[in-house]
Formats: sequence, C-alpha cells, structure tokens
Amino acid sequence: MMKVTLPKLKSMKGTEKISMVTCYDASFARLVEKAEIDSMLVGDSLGMVIKGEENTLNVSVEEVAHHVSAVKRGAANPFLIADMPLGSYQPSLEKGIESAVKLLKAGAEAVKLEGGREVAPLISALTSFGIPVVAHVGMTPQFVNKFGGFGKRGKTKEERIFIMESALEVEKAGADMIVLEGIPETLAAEITKKLKIPTIGIGAGTGTDGQVLVIYDLLGMNADFNPSFLKKYLNLDSLVTNALKEYKKDVVERKN
Ligand code: KIV
Repeated sequence: MMKVTLPKLKSMKGTEKISMVTCYDASFARLVEKAEIDSMLVGDSLGMVIKGEENTLNVSVEEVAHHVSAVKRGAANPFLIADMPLGSYQPSLEKGIESAVKLLKAGAEAVKLEGGREVAPLISALTSFGIPVVAHVGMTPQFVNKFGGFGKRGKTKEERIFIMESALEVEKAGADMIVLEGIPETLAAEITKKLKIPTIGIGAGTGTDGQVLVIYDLLGMNADFNPSFLKKYLNLDSLVTNALKEYKKDVVERKN
C-alpha cells in the first residue's frame, strides 16, 4: 500500500470513507497494513485490552510511546495516531506539548486528545508547532467517572448542543480530524456536515467520514463483550481457545 498522509486523509472527506483501527503491536500492524486500512490508532484503550484494566485511566505516555514504536516497526504506511493518556496533557500546556513530542519521537504522526473548549489552547499550540491533532468528543472514556460509565452521550438536548459546540471549538482551534464516540447517529451526521475536517465515528452511526474500532473488538477477541454498535468480523475468542486446546491435547499426548 502507498503511504497514507494527513493531507490524503483530509482530502478523503466527502469522497472516500476513512478506515481506522486501533493497534498496539508490530504483529497486528503488519496485518493492518496488508489489509490496506488507512490509519492506526495506538489508543489508551490499551489499558483495557492489553493491561486488563477496567478503564483507560491507568495508562502513561511512556506506555503509549512503547506501543507506538512497536506498531511503527510493524507497518509504516497507515497513518499512525497516538492517544494522549490521562495526566499527559491536563496539568499544563507545557506538559501537553512535552507529551505530544514524546509520542512523535516514538513514531506517531498525530496525537489524539479528549475534550472540547478546555483543550482548545493545547490544540492551537500543538498544531502551530506542526503536530497534527485528532480531537475526540462525545463518550470520552477519560471522563468515565464523571459520566458514571461508558454509556452513550447526547441523550438530552443540552448535551447534544454541548457536543456540537465542542466539535466546532476544536475545529476552530486547529484540530485536523475528530473522533465522535457514542453519540446519536443524527448528531454525528450533523457534525460531519458542519465541520470541514474528517469525522471518525465509533458507535455514532454511518454518517461520519470514517469509522474506528478497537481491533480486538472487531476480531471478536472477547465473546462476552458485545456493545450494540459492534460488528464482529471474526470470533477470535473461540478460534484461539480451540487452537490452544488442540495444542494442549497434542502436548499431553506427546504428539509434538
Ligand atoms: O483509546 C481508543 O482506542 C480510542 C478509540 C476507541 C477511538 O479512543
């Protein structure tokens, strides 16, 4: 596949849909590239799917950087985005810039951060230094304690207005793309129409400029994880379990 750049992704708005998956290691990155997926995100979801935590809060910028460099070694062509984890940008503008620089030095081509008006100054600063930014509004997992869970956002009119305003604010601040997570399909489509930057949806319907999913979720790694928006393209849970059982049987029966 050809190298996917930020200008290429931006030019796809309104013409071609953008495909994105999360990725955390070189082995999967190789396959993501073979499938010609446009973009990979080293998400702070790694706290949950790699480290087994119950949310994304206990992830450090060093951990994200470690996975970014592994993913980069596995595939150079999909556009590589790194998540800014909790604590890596909230304390100060300086801390945010420092964290983003660490992620770029590890191999990321853009950083993603959650929030609206409160992150606008950081988005302006980063983009003025040439560091592309993907914003993230709606069901923002770092707000899990405030929201009381990972449920859909935008259920009230006030919340829908807040999400729309947040999207407009981050675009105005200079964000290059935006993730819309866990919001009504109609709102996501409306934001997509209003913004000039590409919108990437997850649990936000099909009216966005692209889609992102956690790679383990779309591959069906956990049979017990079945959110309503998730289409599973494989059942890795049973495939891997059965393969391991067969391997164990062979070992026990001394066949290998
Ligand atoms: O951390 C993550 O993987 C994400 C995506 C699900 C958008 O933020």
